[in-house]
This record gives sequence, structure tokens and C-alpha cells, in this order.
Amino acid sequence: MGKDVIVACDFDSKQKTLEFLDKFTGRKPFVKIGMELFYAEGPSIVREIKARGHKIFLDLKLHDIPNTVKKSMAVLSRLDVDMTNLHAGGTVCMMQAAIEGLTREDGTRPILIAVTQLTSTDEESMRKDLWIEKPIDEVVMHYAENAKIAGLDGVVCSPLEAGKVHGVCGDNFLTVTPGVRFADGDVGDQKRVMTPEQAKKIGSDYIVVGRPITAAADPVGAYERCVREFID
Ligand code: C5P
Repeated sequence: MGKDVIVACDFDSKQKTLEFLDKFTGRKPFVKIGMELFYAEGPSIVREIKARGHKIFLDLKLHDIPNTVKKSMAVLSRLDVDMTNLHAGGTVCMMQAAIEGLTREDGTRPILIAVTQLTSTDEESMRKDLWIEKPIDEVVMHYAENAKIAGLDGVVCSPLEAGKVHGVCGDNFLTVTPGVRFADGDVGDQKRVMTPEQAKKIGSDYIVVGRPITAAADPVGAYERCVREFID
């Protein structure tokens, strides 16, 4: 499982997404499809982008009873996505059921990663709303360990946490990291950011990059710059 740059296609329609992807006539980026686009366009958007030669990370963050997650993961696996995810908060049992559902008859399956705590959840809301008293970084590492125990391949985390996750769960446990910005670019609403080069140094396996590429005057150039800094 090699290092790659995943482009977050946070568009609200198929038309905008395909217009954006049409620009990439050379290397076809690994693309992330999130809830907004998937709920707007349905599974056909996945098939269409896949048929154009892109790898797909389907970011739907499943969280339900194990049986429902297992059956839903089987559907996503048949869509032939390359990576998908769920909430580690659904427990080890739910994550194990997800792996079962995702695994095809020939034993292959998409990469499965877990969301630990969303970056929008801070320690105060964890304590007040969720009644979780432990420090947030301990909770994140505990959820990452649970994901590993369940047989998942890795977690989504900040590039700043990637080194620690590898320390706790091993170097082969994948870290997929959003919050990437160019050194000379806009930070926007991301609070804790790293450049692609720093993310590479700290050991991120995949970086997820949205607006620095999608909102760039030259998206292909911005993507190629990410690839140069992160992979080459
Ligand atoms: O535009 P930007 O590069 O900030 O996009 C980052 C992508 O990664 C978005 O799709 C965002 O939803 C996702 N993401 C994130 N932070 C997380 C988890 C996911 O920015 N903790």
C-alpha cells in the first residue's frame, strides 16, 4: 500500500466533479467522495469516476449496529471502491462486522480506516456531551488501537498525530491525514496544518487535500506539486 495524494472532491454535483476531473489528462488522482456528493448523485457517481481510471476513497463514516454495517459494507465493496471508512466509536464488534462485510469472495477487500474522534470534537464537548473524561489524545490512541485489534488498516488523523499513531499501532498501520496546506498557501478553516513535505517526513501514508487543489487557479499544477512534495 503505497503513499498517495487523495484529492477531496467536495463538490455538490456530478457536473462540477467531472468538469474538475476532466482537467487531469495525465496522472489520474486518487479521489475522495464524501457524503454530500454521494447523497446527491448516488452510487452511479462512484462507478463513473472509477470507469475514468481513478482510485476512490468513499468517505461515508458508517456507524450503526454491526449487522447493518456489515451489510452496507458488502454493498460498498461491490461498488469496487479502493478505500472506505467508519467511526471507531461504533466499537470493536462493529468494526469486525465491517471487515466481514467488506471482504469479497476471493478474499480481497477495500482498505478500511477508522475515524477516531472528529476534529470538530474537542475535550470539553467530549466531557460535557459524551461523558468521556479521558484526555482527547489518549482517547484517539485507544480508538486507533481498537481499530487495529478489529483488523482495520489504519485511521484518519491529523498529520501531527501520525507519528504517535505509528508509535502505538506500528509502522504498517496506515495514517490518512487531512489538514494539508502549501507553505505559501491559505490555511482557511483548518487549524492544525502541515505541508505535504512535512506530512511525508512525519510518516503520513496518504494525504487528503481539498481546497489547495480544487480552488487553485491551476488545479493540475497544485496536484502535481503535492505529488512532488509528498511522494517523489
Ligand atoms: O479543503 P481541505 O483540504 O481542508 O479538505 C480536507 C478534506 O478532509 C475535507 O473533505 C474534510 O471534510 C476532510 N477532513 C478534514 N478533517 C478531518 C477529517 C476529514 O479536513 N478531521
